[in-house]
Amino acid sequence: MTLRGAGPLVLGAISLSAIVVMARMARHRAMGRHVPGGVLIADATGYDRLTGLLLGWLFRSIAADIASQASPGAKVLEVGCGPGYLSIRLARDNGLDVTGIDLDPAMIERARAKAEHLSTGQTRMPRFTVGNAAAMTFDDASFDLVVSTLSMHHWSDRPSGLAEITRVLRPGGTALIWDLKAGAVPFHRHAPDPVAQVHGSALRLVSVTPWRWPWPFAFLQRLELTPA
Ligand SMILES: C[S@@+](CC[C@H](N)C(=O)[O-])C[C@H]1O[C@@H](n2cnc3c(N)ncnc32)[C@H](O)[C@@H]1O
Repeated sequence: MTLRGAGPLVLGAISLSAIVVMARMARHRAMGRHVPGGVLIADATGYDRLTGLLLGWLFRSIAADIASQASPGAKVLEVGCGPGYLSIRLARDNGLDVTGIDLDPAMIERARAKAEHLSTGQTRMPRFTVGNAAAMTFDDASFDLVVSTLSMHHWSDRPSGLAEITRVLRPGGTALIWDLKAGAVPFHRHAPDPVAQVHGSALRLVSVTPWRWPWPFAFLQRLELTPA
C-alpha cells in the first residue's frame, strides 16, 4: 500500500481513537456536568485540546458545507460552539459574520482566547458570548443561517431551543444541525434522535443526511431545516 493510499486508513484510526477516548470520558462521567439549561463538558481545556488535535478535518468538511450554503458576509449563529473551532473557520476562512454562543463560560473563554490569538487584525473573527439555546437574547429574524455541531443532545430543553432557532432565523433562512444518530454511538445510546426532536417544532425538515464521522463510519447526521 502506498503512503497516499494509507492516508484514509490513518485518518480512520485517529478518528476512531477520538471516539473511543470521548466515549470513555463519557462513561467515567468525566464529560458531563448537569446545570440548568444543559450538560456541560466537565473539562473544557481537555475537550479543547482533544478536538483541536482530532476533529480538524470534521470541522473542515462541515465549514465547507456551510460556506457553500451561505451568501458572502451572511450572518451566522453557531449554537453550542464549544471552544470555537467551527465559528473561527467560518469567519476567518469564509468571511462570514459569525456569532458563537455556548452555555459554558469556560468554553466561551477558550473560544475568545483562541480568536484573539489567531487574529491578525485583518482577519474577520467571530463574537463569542455565553448563552442558552433555549433562551437567546438576539432579535427576531436576525440571522441568515443557524448552525450547530454535536450540541443538541446536550440541551435540556430541546423544543425551546428549536423554537428559539426558528425565532432568530430570518424568513427563508436555514438551520444546519449535525448531531449523533440515535443509538449509533457507544456510551451515547441514550442520546435523543435529532430527527424526532424536530417533529412538532416550527421548523420544516428539508433533508437528513448521514455524515461521515469518524471515517469510515457515519455516527453523525446532518439536518437541514427551515422555518415552516
Ligand atoms: C460536545 S460539545 C460540542 C462543542 C462544539 N460544537 C464541537 O462540535 O466541538 C457540546 C456543547 O454544547 C454546549 N451546551 C450544552 N447545553 C447548551 C445549551 N442549552 N445552550 C448552548 N450550548 C449548550 C456545551 O457547553 C458544550 O460546549
